Amino acid sequence: MKVRKISGALGAEIMGVDLTKELTADLVKEIRDVFLNNNVIFLRNQPLSSQQFMNFARSMGKPVEYPFVKGFDSFPEIIEVKKLEHERSNFGGVWHSDTTYLEYPPMGSMLLSKEIPPYGGDTLFACQYAAYETLSDTMQRMLSGLRGISSSAKADVSKTREDRIKTDGKDSAPKNFTNSHPIVRTHPETGRKALYVNVAHTTGIEGLTEAESAPLLSFLFEHQVKPEFTCRWAWEPDTLAFWDNRCTMHNPINDYHGFKRVLHRITLEGDKPI
Ligand code: CO
Repeated sequence: MKVRKISGALGAEIMGVDLTKELTADLVKEIRDVFLNNNVIFLRNQPLSSQQFMNFARSMGKPVEYPFVKGFDSFPEIIEVKKLEHERSNFGGVWHSDTTYLEYPPMGSMLLSKEIPPYGGDTLFACQYAAYETLSDTMQRMLSGLRGISSSAKADVSKTREDRIKTDGKDSAPKNFTNSHPIVRTHPETGRKALYVNVAHTTGIEGLTEAESAPLLSFLFEHQVKPEFTCRWAWEPDTLAFWDNRCTMHNPINDYHGFKRVLHRITLEGDKPI
């Protein structure tokens, strides 16, 4: 197995691993270590069936269903993330960590690329350890103990789901999920602290008025995606990406109107953030 870092802050490509084969426990551990050290990993040339995709996901955690979109009949934990030729909005097309409005937000998410436009449709990732560590000591102290409120109903992100809910929405009308989590969370595996707010879902801070929280959140939203905290992945078909939602944000770029882009996604169960 070979590892190539793709930026200074986060992201690593793993080479020499074939996910169509069963992985040894040692290899699973090695992959997990690269994942924990780099926040997001990429493996090219992985033409996986849904069963093989699920097998790899199960080696890294427990696949769970996404609340708003139906999965495949035989694999309800796999959803299609897609944008069709005639569609304008791209699913999740804003900086975020996945479903932070849940009480137990996912520890990680996996995407397996199927159809990729001839150009565009890259995904950006941002390291939230770096975002936290570059704050002043005073700001770090000020944020410790504060809880951010996440809602699934913020307008900018809910409109990115509209096309998918129209074609693949779950029958039960989606309800609005709201939960609060520490703004600075401690990673349960690495023990490192990471900033855990995001512009897609965080609506406020517990105990503060909107006038008080808005300027602080808008500073954090801007700070946490500085270019030097990010990496950018240009997809080709049959690439698997796996990112750590506990310390990483992502943002798919919507710059390929007129072309189709299809990826399969599995989300893995996470802890309650502390
Ligand atoms: Co997402």
